Amino acid sequence: MKRAKISIIGAGNVGATTAHWCAAAELGDIVLLDIPELGTVPQGKSLDLSQAGPIMGFDSAIIGTSDYADTAGSDVVVVTAGIPRKPGMSRDDLLATNARIVSKVAEQIKHTSPQAIVIVVSNPLDAMVQRLWQVTGFEPRRVMGQAGVLDSARFRTFVARELGVSVEDVSAMLLGGHGDTMVPLTSCCTVGGIPVAQLIAPQRMAEIVQRTRDGGAEIVGLLKTGSAYYAPAAATAQMVEAIVRDKKRLIACAAHCDREYGVGGYFVGVPVVLGGNGVERIIEIQMTGEERAQFDKSAAAVRALVETMERLLGG
Ligand code: APR
Repeated sequence: MKRAKISIIGAGNVGATTAHWCAAAELGDIVLLDIPELGTVPQGKSLDLSQAGPIMGFDSAIIGTSDYADTAGSDVVVVTAGIPRKPGMSRDDLLATNARIVSKVAEQIKHTSPQAIVIVVSNPLDAMVQRLWQVTGFEPRRVMGQAGVLDSARFRTFVARELGVSVEDVSAMLLGGHGDTMVPLTSCCTVGGIPVAQLIAPQRMAEIVQRTRDGGAEIVGLLKTGSAYYAPAAATAQMVEAIVRDKKRLIACAAHCDREYGVGGYFVGVPVVLGGNGVERIIEIQMTGEERAQFDKSAAAVRALVETMERLLGG
C-alpha cells in the first residue's frame, strides 16, 4: 500500500517536532517546508531526523525544502507557519501578520495539493483556520484546527497529577475557541470511568480548569523566548494518525460549524469523528446550562476574532 504523504508548512519548533512524532509513529513520508529566507534549515532538520530512523526503527522518507513543488499531491498538510508575538506587538498586529502568512500558504496548498486534508496549528488558531478555509475553498470537512487535543491533554495531565493516577485513565473533552474562553466540560471528564466530580472537589476543579485555560501562557512564561511545542506537535501528530490510519477518533478539534451548536459558519472546537475523510461527523452533546453559556461566549469571541481579521485584511 502506498505510504501517506504528509507535508508540514513551517519548519520551526512546532513543525519540526510534528515531523518527529509523525516519523516516530511511521505515519508516512514527510516534507518539511519553510521560507527560502531560512536557507537550508529544513533540509538540515530533515536529514538529521532521517538519521534517527535506523535507531528508532522507522522508514519514513523525510525531506526539507522551500519549494511547494515538493509537497505536490500531499494527503495531509499541517500548517504551522507564522511568527510568534514579539515585544511591543499588539494582538491585532500578530493577527494581521499571521493571517497574511496563512493566506499565502493556503494559495499554495490549493494549487499543489488540491485533495489534501489540512490541519491548521498557527495562532490565533480559530481565525487562521477560517482564513485557510476561505482561501482554499476546500470542503469544510477537509479543513480543521488543532486545539482540542492539546487543551484536553493539558487538562488530563493536571487531573492525573492531582489524583496520582495514570494520564491514560483520564478522559476529557474541551470545547470552544482556543484561548481564554475555552470550555473544559467537567461533566464529561472521567477517571477510569468514574465522573471526576466524585474525586475532586468543585473548588479544586475550578483551579485546574483555570490552569488549563492559562496552559499556553504558563509555558510562554517559563520559556521566555517562544511558545509550547512538544504537546502541540504530539496533538497534531495524533490528528494526522487519525486521518492516515482512518481511525475514526472521537476527539475535539476546531471544525466548521454551521447549524451545529448554532454557531453559524465558524470554526469552533467541538467533538468530531476524525478519519480518512477528515471531519466525518460533528457530535452534538448535551451541556449543563453553565457550560452552554460558556460555549456561546466562546463562540462569540471566535466570531469577533474573525471579524477583526477580516477588517484588518480589508474584507
Ligand atoms: N511559509 C512557510 N513558513 C513560514 C512562513 C511562510 N509564509 N512564514 C513564516 N514561516 C515559518 C518561519 O520561518 C518559522 O520557521 O514558520 C515557522 C514558525 O516556527 P517558530 O517561529 O519556531 O514557531 P512555532 O513555535 O513552531 O509556532 C508556530 O504554531 O502553535 C502555533 O502559536 C504558534 O503560531 C505559532 C505556530
